[in-house]
Amino acid sequence: MNLLQKSFEVLDKNWFGKYTIPANGLYPFQWNWDSGFIALGWLHYKPERALVEMETLFSGQWKNGFLPHILFHDYQKHSTYFPSADYWDSSASPFASDVVRSSGITQPPVHGIILEAMYNRRLDVGRIEKLYDQTVDYHQWLYANKAYKDTGLMAIWHNWESGMDNSVIWDDVFSRIPQKILDRIEFSRKDVNQVENSAETRPKNSDYKGYLYLLNELKDRQFQNVGSDYPFQVLEPVFNTILIQASRSLIRLGKKLNRDVSTLEQQLQMTESHFDHYFWSAGDHLYYPFDVVLQEKIYKKYIGNYFPIYASLPDLDRVKGLLRHIDLDLLQMFPSVTPGEIGFEPKNYWRGPVWINMNWMIWKGLKIYKLNKVADRLKESTLDLVQRNGFYEYFNPFKNETSNAGYGGADFSWTAALVIDFIKDDKE
Ligand code: DGY
Repeated sequence: MNLLQKSFEVLDKNWFGKYTIPANGLYPFQWNWDSGFIALGWLHYKPERALVEMETLFSGQWKNGFLPHILFHDYQKHSTYFPSADYWDSSASPFASDVVRSSGITQPPVHGIILEAMYNRRLDVGRIEKLYDQTVDYHQWLYANKAYKDTGLMAIWHNWESGMDNSVIWDDVFSRIPQKILDRIEFSRKDVNQVENSAETRPKNSDYKGYLYLLNELKDRQFQNVGSDYPFQVLEPVFNTILIQASRSLIRLGKKLNRDVSTLEQQLQMTESHFDHYFWSAGDHLYYPFDVVLQEKIYKKYIGNYFPIYASLPDLDRVKGLLRHIDLDLLQMFPSVTPGEIGFEPKNYWRGPVWINMNWMIWKGLKIYKLNKVADRLKESTLDLVQRNGFYEYFNPFKNETSNAGYGGADFSWTAALVIDFIKDDKE
């Protein structure tokens, strides 16, 4: 069976009737940005499911526009995930959905990008319009609640919001939380029973203490208005690049749908105009996150150093300089953390492995610059990783790692969905 057919099989297997789980056992509910990428795969295969995927996601939108990172559909039926719906207890917020229980944090806002792709493939405009208005409401929630001062740059309040859960960029932020507070936190994980070799491939128990500490702090604050005493407030280039890309999609799409896009345009302008000041380091020729609490950049080498390529934020000369930091003979482009960085681990989740969604977004960006040779190489090496190892969640970043180079969830939905888009994109 070829790669495309296998991708279809993975998506079909993970389809739960009105949404797609990311991976059996490990992630048995609906995840926010996963659903966006997954919908792109459905678009090429069973387009109706792309619409249903997004409609189900937005059925969990809160009354204030917020869109959670996990929707716990049928939570009584699935007991393989922690922290559970009960642990999150979204009812701590007066705005929580009455339809489905959820987490109280969000994830990178990819939805506008997906809606534009749906419109371009001529899916039902009436249904897209409804999703469009819901997505704009979500963006308004982001700008009202998560923008740092008047920068239009979103602050991340929990590492899970970034999607890059245990990246090295959070290490120093977590190290500032007093150990005696962390030691009081009790929990029993489930993810470690769902994957092979979890000691090397999943976050550590000591990491989870920090994650749960933040979760409970946010719950105490009703998941909003964190205040200046809240310890985790980071502006991060990946999240904000995706915001920019999605805002552009919403503006283009809004014009076609006869919506007033002036607010979106003003907000986008604000975000774009502050991007370099907070993230760009001319000395290093890389982008870095900005820690709001310390008022300084987080000088770590990770995928966010390059990621603004996705939204064409650097000019071509700058892109060429960025690419010189990657050793193409040694590495699969683009590792989540750069080898040599303190805390780099080639098998551990977001601490080094390659992720298909990140490669896919950077590939899209490279093609806009017409850097076709490097874009093609990125596409080939990404498809090759999946072909050789299977539809894993993440992959070893070293090219010479020939066996067992796939880790985390097997038959991972966004890996399949984006393989489909990688293959189909050039042909349609
Ligand atoms: C997990 O549980 O690891 C998820 O990625 C959190 O969103």
